[in-house]
Amino acid sequence: MGSMTTPLDRRRLGQSEASWSPIGLGTWQFSQGHGLIGRFWPTLTQDYITAIVKATVDGGISWFDTAEAYGRGQSERALAMALETLHVDVDTISIATKWWPLLRSSHHLQHSIGARLQALNQHPIALYQIHQPFARSSIESQMRAMASLLDHGLIKQAGVSNFTASQMVLAHRTLKSCGHALASNQVHYNLLHRNIESNGILANARELGISLIAYSPLAQGLLTGKFHQGTASPRGFRRWSPQFRPEVLRTTAPLIRAMQDLAERYEVEVSQVALNWVITSAGDTVFAIPGASSPKQAAANSKAMGWALTHDEWAMLSDLSTNFR
Ligand SMILES: NC(=O)c1ccc[n+]([C@@H]2O[C@H](COP(=O)([O-])OP(=O)(O)OC[C@H]3O[C@@H](n4cnc5c(N)ncnc54)[C@H](OP(=O)(O)O)[C@@H]3O)[C@@H](O)[C@H]2O)c1
Repeated sequence: MGSMTTPLDRRRLGQSEASWSPIGLGTWQFSQGHGLIGRFWPTLTQDYITAIVKATVDGGISWFDTAEAYGRGQSERALAMALETLHVDVDTISIATKWWPLLRSSHHLQHSIGARLQALNQHPIALYQIHQPFARSSIESQMRAMASLLDHGLIKQAGVSNFTASQMVLAHRTLKSCGHALASNQVHYNLLHRNIESNGILANARELGISLIAYSPLAQGLLTGKFHQGTASPRGFRRWSPQFRPEVLRTTAPLIRAMQDLAERYEVEVSQVALNWVITSAGDTVFAIPGASSPKQAAANSKAMGWALTHDEWAMLSDLSTNFR
């Protein structure tokens, strides 16, 4: 925890050889209105997506998080197209994607890898994650399928998402018995959602050398302060989210005020304070994947790296957010 970390430095993904920037770009926003999950965010044009990817790479972010579920592969396709348009050297960036397990078996996990690679225009899959724990096959069986993909060089690392501590440990142990290790668990983590600190996920991840990838690190924009300042109001599906109710804005106002003070001190934006809190929260264990709806946001979010809150500042924000809980 706190100021001794160096958040600009790349950090190791799990126990692998890969070292990634502490922040990656979340690309659910690239779904372009396809599929049910993909309708959550406004539709972005391919040119605009390419501009977001450019701002991301220019800002020193070295990896992207996507998924089959984001627009039924549309996010993967849009990302791959942007990288091609920008002539980004495939060796300089990494892509993490996810398999959607609901009503599917580990057989599907193994045999649909070609479709994922096709959606990514054959860009290597640096990290392949199981999107959530509900599948027709056991975790052991899914991990044996992952091990086979690793053995055949079809993916570089295996991860999970939304797994509980015990599911994560079981996934790790099964991969270990196949000669591999679990690289990561992608989980909901931000200043207002800190369950992983008390439910065993963070403790087990640290002990076993598993990286955690924090999704919704800005609480879908709430932790940018713009809704508190009244400079924005929630659009689309967020209008119905309990997180954006007036009483939540009221209760979280002291936290946002403290973040604004720190933002002024460091000459950064409130969003960068929120992201810095996440990536300095547990040494090198936690990565963050903010999504961006514009190139400006992507550029701003990359500036959450390269500096660190002091331990006291980190603890003060933690206290204020604990009070909220
Ligand atoms: N594994 C899972 O189950 C799971 C679940 C959720 C998300 N994810 C991943 O995590 C990524 C991020 O999570 P998320 O998209 O839910 O939430 P988030 O990163 O907390 O919030 C992203 C949204 O916040 C706003 N924003 C971002 N940067 C900003 C800035 N600098 N200033 C002002 N507003 C800013 C933008 O929306 P507006 O401009 O429209 O306000 C943006 O679309 C996703 O893209 C996805 O890759 C994974």
